[in-house]
Amino acid sequence: MASQLPLAQITRRYDRLARVYAWLEPLFAIHSGARRRAARALGVNSGASVLEVGCGTGRNFPYLLEAVGPTGRVVGIDASPGMLAEAQRLIKRHQWSNVELHRQDAAELTRGETFDAALFSLSYSVIPASRTAAHRAWDLLRPGGRLVVMDAGVPDSALGRILDPVARLLVKLAPGDPYSRPWEDLDDLDAPHTERFLLGIYYVVVITKPAEVP
Ligand SMILES: C[S@@+](CC[C@H](N)C(=O)[O-])C[C@H]1O[C@@H](n2cnc3c(N)ncnc32)[C@H](O)[C@@H]1O
Repeated sequence: MASQLPLAQITRRYDRLARVYAWLEPLFAIHSGARRRAARALGVNSGASVLEVGCGTGRNFPYLLEAVGPTGRVVGIDASPGMLAEAQRLIKRHQWSNVELHRQDAAELTRGETFDAALFSLSYSVIPASRTAAHRAWDLLRPGGRLVVMDAGVPDSALGRILDPVARLLVKLAPGDPYSRPWEDLDDLDAPHTERFLLGIYYVVVITKPAEVP
C-alpha cells in the first residue's frame, strides 16, 4: 500500500516542510545509520550512476557520493519544488558537480539513460503510486543493477500495536503510509531480500535485476 493522499496534497505538504525537514528527523527516528545502510545496500562502486527517487532535500547525497566517488553520478528526482530547492542549496554549498536534480512524478518516471542502482529512501511509503514508481525505476536499471527501498513503518508485532497511535499522529505531519509493505508489493520483481533494524521499525529491501544471459 502507498500513501492515500493525492500527489498535489503531498507535494504541498512537503513544500511547506522543506526548510525544517532536517530538524524533524529525530522526531521520526531518522538516523544517519539507516542512510548509510541504504547506500551500502546499493552495492555500487566508484564511477557508478545512482538514481534517487523522491530525493527530497538531498539528505542521502553525501552517502551516495561517497559510494560513487568523483567519477560517478547521482540523479535525484522529486515532485516537490520546495524539497528540490533545498537539495539545490545543498549541492551549491558543497559545490558538487556530479549531482543532477529533476522535478518529476515518480509514477511517470522516464529518463533517457540506465542506472547501476536506484534508491527509494523514506519515499516509497509516501509516493501515491509507489508500486508503479518502483517498476519504472526497475526498468531504468541495467542488468545486475539493484533497487533498494529503505523506509520505516509499524512492525507486525506487539511493539507495532503500541506504535500505531504514534505513527498515525506522525503521518498527519509528514504524509506517508506506515503500513506500506514494499517486499509484498514488489514480489513480482526478482526475489526481494528484506532486512529489518531498529526494533523492526526500519527496513531495507534489496532487489537485484538478473544479469543478461550471454
Ligand atoms: C519523507 S521524504 C524523503 C526524502 C529523502 N529521500 C530522504 O531520505 O530524506 C519523501 C519525498 O518523496 C517525495 N514524493 C512523494 N510523492 C512523490 C512522487 N509521486 N514523485 C516524486 N517524489 C515524490 C516528496 O516530495 C518527498 O520529498
